[in-house]
Amino acid sequence: MTRIYLSVPHLGPSEQHYVSEAFATNWLSSVGPNLDAFEAAFTARVGMPSVALASGTAALHLGLRLLGVGPGDEVIVPTLTFIASVNPILYLGARPLLIDSDPGTWTIDPQRVADVLRQRAAVNRLPKAVIPVHLYGQSADMDPILEVCGRYGVPVIEDAAEAMGTLYKGKAAGSLGAIGIFSFNGNKIITTTGGGMLTSPNHEWVEKARFWAQQARDQGMAYEHTEMGYNYRLSNVLAGIGRGQLEVLDQRVVQRRAVAFRYRDAFADLPGLSLMPQAPYGLHTNWLSCFLVDEQKLGISRDHIIRSLAAKDIESRPIWKPMHQQPIFAKAERHGGEVAEDLFRRGFCLPSSSSLTLADQGEITSIVRGLCLRLR
Ligand SMILES: Cc1ncc(COP(=O)(O)O)c(C=O)c1O
Repeated sequence: MTRIYLSVPHLGPSEQHYVSEAFATNWLSSVGPNLDAFEAAFTARVGMPSVALASGTAALHLGLRLLGVGPGDEVIVPTLTFIASVNPILYLGARPLLIDSDPGTWTIDPQRVADVLRQRAAVNRLPKAVIPVHLYGQSADMDPILEVCGRYGVPVIEDAAEAMGTLYKGKAAGSLGAIGIFSFNGNKIITTTGGGMLTSPNHEWVEKARFWAQQARDQGMAYEHTEMGYNYRLSNVLAGIGRGQLEVLDQRVVQRRAVAFRYRDAFADLPGLSLMPQAPYGLHTNWLSCFLVDEQKLGISRDHIIRSLAAKDIESRPIWKPMHQQPIFAKAERHGGEVAEDLFRRGFCLPSSSSLTLADQGEITSIVRGLCLRLR
């Protein structure tokens, strides 16, 4: 018996072919044909120029800098997210304004965004940017967010790290705001083992991010620098993995969704165990299969399920711990938070890999069902 992990890479021969090609041709640095092809394929998919970077966190850092975020500024971000959505705000000396979730989607509550912008506009202290996070493969409700941000002239930077392949009203999540960022971390729906992408309809911004990502080296023979830069470029080897992964993205979306719906169907007769809502406005990839426990109805707690699976060497995990409950953000300003706290208390993610076998998934569902039915 081998351990069943939450979300593992799922690679095929195409990825290996592109990586071998990089070795064979000695393109083993942060330039090369795989990078060009990966960016071109990504650009074709989202319909906007894009630059491949070392991580989603790096992409968000550069994106916020492009929007001019600096010391003392404020940036709106959901409290229910992974900390990588917020750390780049701190890198720039800015402060997060933490906003609660909409219980119908688990993503940032557009009404609260509107309320905060209205309050801030009244005192002439608008935040510098809004970061909706497309959570676990589900798009935030972008139309009302874009409408209210447009009204106040506050740019939107979409954190689509968890949402490669996600759609909002037929369009790619991450392609709707001023800037979108993606992650190809090893646990994501497609991976480069570690990597990210920044995309924007603004070609100059994308080129500026590319420039900053390569130590902001000015043109010319000498190594001359007039701006601060970073070593944030993706390697041509890893871009080869991404190139192959993009070819199978649509399959991976179908497979992740199938995993989630098999769990949902297997738990259909258990009152008090429900799949994360699937908002009608988009295509939820169900990057992770997330469930909510109603302990009164189910008879067992979320933690009991996680511990029982762990005892059988099966990895599951709670929903993200809200940022306002993190010691590092204890003093951060927040607007609501009760919805996120409740989701964190009762929510959990089950193994969701696109390569999860029917036998392994059957074992997981029978353990969870056994825990619940034993009580009847
Ligand atoms: C919501 C969210 N934002 C940002 C990131 C950062 O991506 P990376 O790990 O590629 O830096 C991640 C994932 O790791 C994430 O889940």
